[in-house]
Amino acid sequence: MTKSINTSGVGNAINRVEGHLKVMGKAKYASEFPVENKVYGQGINSTIAKGEIVSIDTSEAEKLEGVLKVITYKNAEKLKTLEGVRPEIATDSIAPVLQSNKVHYYGEYVGLVVAETFEQAQYAASLVKFEYKKDPTAVIDFEKSKSKAYTPDNGSNYSRGNMEQGFSEADMVVEQTYNTPIEHHHPMELHAVIASWDNGKVTAYSSQQIVEDAKIAISGTFQIPKKDVRVISAFVGGGFGSKLNLDQHVILAVMASKMVGRPVQVTVTRTQMFTNTNMRQQNEQKMRVGAKKDGTLTALSHETLSHTSTTQEYQEPCGMVSKMLYNVANNEVTYKLIPMNIQTPFAMRAPGEATGSFALESAMDEMAWKLKMDPLEFRIKNDTQTDLHENRPFSSRLLVECLRIGAEKFGWKDRKSEPRTNKKGNWLIGYGVSSASRNSPYLKTHSKVILELDEDKVFATIQMDATDIGTGSYTIIAQTASEYLKIPVEQVNVELGDSDFPITPGSGGSWGAASFCNGARAACENAIKTLKNNRNIAEDKEVAVSELLKKNQLTKFEAEGIAEPSAEFGKYSVFSFGANFSEVWVDKDTGMYRIKRMVNVASAGKILNPKTAYGQIIGGLTMGVGMVMAEQTRVEPNFGNFITRSFADYHVPVNLDLANIEVIFLPEEDKIANKMGIKGIGELGITSVAASISNAIFNATGKRMRSLPITPEKLI
Ligand code: MOS
Repeated sequence: MTKSINTSGVGNAINRVEGHLKVMGKAKYASEFPVENKVYGQGINSTIAKGEIVSIDTSEAEKLEGVLKVITYKNAEKLKTLEGVRPEIATDSIAPVLQSNKVHYYGEYVGLVVAETFEQAQYAASLVKFEYKKDPTAVIDFEKSKSKAYTPDNGSNYSRGNMEQGFSEADMVVEQTYNTPIEHHHPMELHAVIASWDNGKVTAYSSQQIVEDAKIAISGTFQIPKKDVRVISAFVGGGFGSKLNLDQHVILAVMASKMVGRPVQVTVTRTQMFTNTNMRQQNEQKMRVGAKKDGTLTALSHETLSHTSTTQEYQEPCGMVSKMLYNVANNEVTYKLIPMNIQTPFAMRAPGEATGSFALESAMDEMAWKLKMDPLEFRIKNDTQTDLHENRPFSSRLLVECLRIGAEKFGWKDRKSEPRTNKKGNWLIGYGVSSASRNSPYLKTHSKVILELDEDKVFATIQMDATDIGTGSYTIIAQTASEYLKIPVEQVNVELGDSDFPITPGSGGSWGAASFCNGARAACENAIKTLKNNRNIAEDKEVAVSELLKKNQLTKFEAEGIAEPSAEFGKYSVFSFGANFSEVWVDKDTGMYRIKRMVNVASAGKILNPKTAYGQIIGGLTMGVGMVMAEQTRVEPNFGNFITRSFADYHVPVNLDLANIEVIFLPEEDKIANKMGIKGIGELGITSVAASISNAIFNATGKRMRSLPITPEKLI
């Protein structure tokens, strides 16, 4: 066999294999499947934060043409509450819906109208009248409810060393509080489902990040066997954590389909995205940092106060970064939660790191300023190759390299350390830096490969229940098959997002790429190995897969593979690392600012496709810019409703807000992480962006911003 260079295998910047389908409008998202005979469900939301429904009048809605059913707690099926659907993945329990007359937060579903058309359902929903008995003890004001905070009983509080001693050794102490607001998910594709109940069997086309979890949740909630549930999520228009869980609209759709005997589509409206999917909660993070004059950290304490709902507990691990990022012997991380009458918060891109790194990397910058040290050198001085929290080495950690290379590319040496000294006309110019880290999990993944011989060409189909949430899963899985089967990517077909396919952990927590691709690798390797073994061909002998099929007298062959972490994996801490550099120009009179340049350097193992990887990082950076410039959900302090309820008042960055962005991936293969050397990048990009921009704003203006978002009026 002649050896040729595979230009479509792993590491090549090929275009997305599903790109054509997407631009042609042929990629089917959940609500686009042509399910016959389908009807529409429209959820109704509560208008009190806490209390009880005392009466419901459905008569007007029921009289309306096209209306098939009005479902409320009075006629809803009794459901089972599930706890810990798949604990190893840590998605939370599924809250059943319409199970009582109790209301726990403003916007909670209190009903669903099912009608022939979407418009009829929407109009009918507005005609259902609810009378409530309001409970005046609703907890809706974070600032006023701090005395209600409790310490969660989940073992997350942590300490090492001796804090008192650490602070006594310090020459300088920084003690500051950093605030981040409630933020909401806004993927382009709204959460949607078309569910069919057919004699105890359920099919759901649902926009989900993890189809297996969705399947378990439906089967458990409705008490039907898992084998009778099929979830299809072929394309997902963004998830960011909001589609990790099975949300209540899916349960409503399944229940409604069972009741009306027809497939039911429920689409969560943009306004309902605020109340019925999930969100990042408000955090108040108190940092205490101690350091010696020479920049050695002596103590680091990170206290987080957040809120959860009154029905479920969710705690964002904001202190995670403080446990592992720097070499500090004395460390304490604590959490407190206020149960509030607001929906349960949940994971939003880089839960823990995105917010925690704002606090840590701002406090580090404050300390560097106090020490009169270069903030870049201060970070480098406190680097560690050991994860002091887990007390084990990092599988690989190129944080210092990220900082050094980034500094070089960015022109860090031109930074003026004194604020308000770098000026151009009315602009105050500042440079900021921050370190980024994100856990890089690797989870058990099953995959199947089907090989078909057509004359001399082998066509391969890879199947697994993985999802592509816009990240490029289809593409990198196709490249992996191309690499391991040594066939062009054009001969690889990838089929994902169907719970009938082999089980994967789905997309979340930055584990997708490593898990899916190693799964596909394992299936391809098994196929080749079996074909060789059957003909007594030595395993190390290079034979084209087409030849192998011929030698086996086969035109079709299937193999399965499983990828999972090795014992070695558990002996190390596996994280991706990065560095962010920002240049910000602030108008000294108006406080308006522009992010002029951003440089991100990432050390994230093997980069499967530089193009899709770049997309992940700039997506993360953009979301980080959103955190800094605009994103904030406000709660009305008397009623508990969100005041921000559309894109008119919940702002996300647009192209004009964004900088000239440079992304550099350090060449790396982390073979401890997994056989292919892959680490995660889905969440690394958002991590510490807020701090790098805020630090640049300090460098420009001398004003330290400790509350996000940083809106212009705060700078004048
Ligand atoms: Mo992620 S926040 O696990 O999609």
